[in-house]
Amino acid sequence: MDKPSTDTELDRRAISILRENEWGDYTLPTRGLYPYQWNWDSMFVALGFSEFDLDRAWTEVETLFQGQWKNGMAAHIVFRSDDPSYFPGPSIWSSGQNPPTSGCSQPLVAATVVRDLYEKDREVGLPRLQKVFPKLLMAWHRWFHAMRVISGGSAIAVTHPWESGRDNSPDWDEALANVDPYGVTPYMRRDTGHVDPSMRPTDEEYDRYLKLVEYGRETGWDHAHITREGPFAVADPGVSFILMRADRDLKELAKAIDAQDSEKEIDTWLYHAEEAADYLWSESQGAYAARDMRTDEHADGVSSVAFLSYYAGISIPRRDAKLQRTLRRILNSARYSLPSFDPEHRKFDSKRYWRGPIWAIVNYIVARGLAEYGFERESERIRLDTRAVIRKYGFFEYFDPMEGRGAGGNQFTWTAAI
Ligand code: GLC
Repeated sequence: MDKPSTDTELDRRAISILRENEWGDYTLPTRGLYPYQWNWDSMFVALGFSEFDLDRAWTEVETLFQGQWKNGMAAHIVFRSDDPSYFPGPSIWSSGQNPPTSGCSQPLVAATVVRDLYEKDREVGLPRLQKVFPKLLMAWHRWFHAMRVISGGSAIAVTHPWESGRDNSPDWDEALANVDPYGVTPYMRRDTGHVDPSMRPTDEEYDRYLKLVEYGRETGWDHAHITREGPFAVADPGVSFILMRADRDLKELAKAIDAQDSEKEIDTWLYHAEEAADYLWSESQGAYAARDMRTDEHADGVSSVAFLSYYAGISIPRRDAKLQRTLRRILNSARYSLPSFDPEHRKFDSKRYWRGPIWAIVNYIVARGLAEYGFERESERIRLDTRAVIRKYGFFEYFDPMEGRGAGGNQFTWTAAI
């Protein structure tokens, strides 16, 4: 029953995928390909659960923080076992944490999701919010603002493409080309045993991903050092805009529990929001674009996360006119929206992971921001296209924006959640 024909069937199928992928108190992104708890996956999952089981939704959030580091970082993967079908597993990362985790973070959607859960039922939510707020949300936000900016700057850097959640986006190509993969310890990929290699990152990219893991491990996961001096630091519109939005939502949560000192601290972060957006803006591309913090060069193409500025609460009229033009051009160049990378760019690849395919979670946050700023038509188009490809092809990990066909893993949890 992979291609439901009515909305009710579609909902029913989505709920059963969430239930089938539950693994105790957390949920796997999909069975086989991703056998652990992933950070931002889990937060979208919580949003999905909140539609029919609010208690389970809060639990999903709480389990993510079992993998929180003392320095505040919530890691991108929490390993509670060692599954040989996945690479790179806990022994490669050597995080020294219990439970073992990876050594980087992922886009911080948590505060926004927690606010949504809290708003659904404040009475149920209050005690759970009080528990997650200080240690979990504040400490993790603080970690990003302290550890992932380069002195004087305000945009948030990722120090590994995996930290962006958009592994092989063309946004990283130039910066990644400067990572020397020489001497990387020989390894065997597992992802290409689960999924067609033409849909996954290349071996050249993988060597560099692993080299960056080895670098981090050799520093003993000293994140200040990695950001300041490591081989890779790129300001990411995705992570930056998602964090800005999360900061604003965290501030509302601080008000709800009367945490005035936290409110003040959050204001100091938000004070730099426009400056961060300035750093990312590329006039020549008419969009926000990733920027290599080592060279100050912008990436030379537009990714879907460029349009998260609205979600982040950033609207600068003279820029927005250009940004809207770029958005319309991209919407018109694909049959289904929203392609993760500009279809008119030479690097566009409709099937390869983050180099073109549609991702339901990104569609959801981009559309949410657009709707909040009154761009109903664009927002609706993205929402309806997301539903159309899922209905036609099933709950895949991602979709080809030209043909609509699903690709990567199937019965995918976050697609079901959205
Ligand atoms: C891939 C995606 C990442 C996601 C993970 C689990 O690595 O790029 O964003 O969190 O899979 O679904």
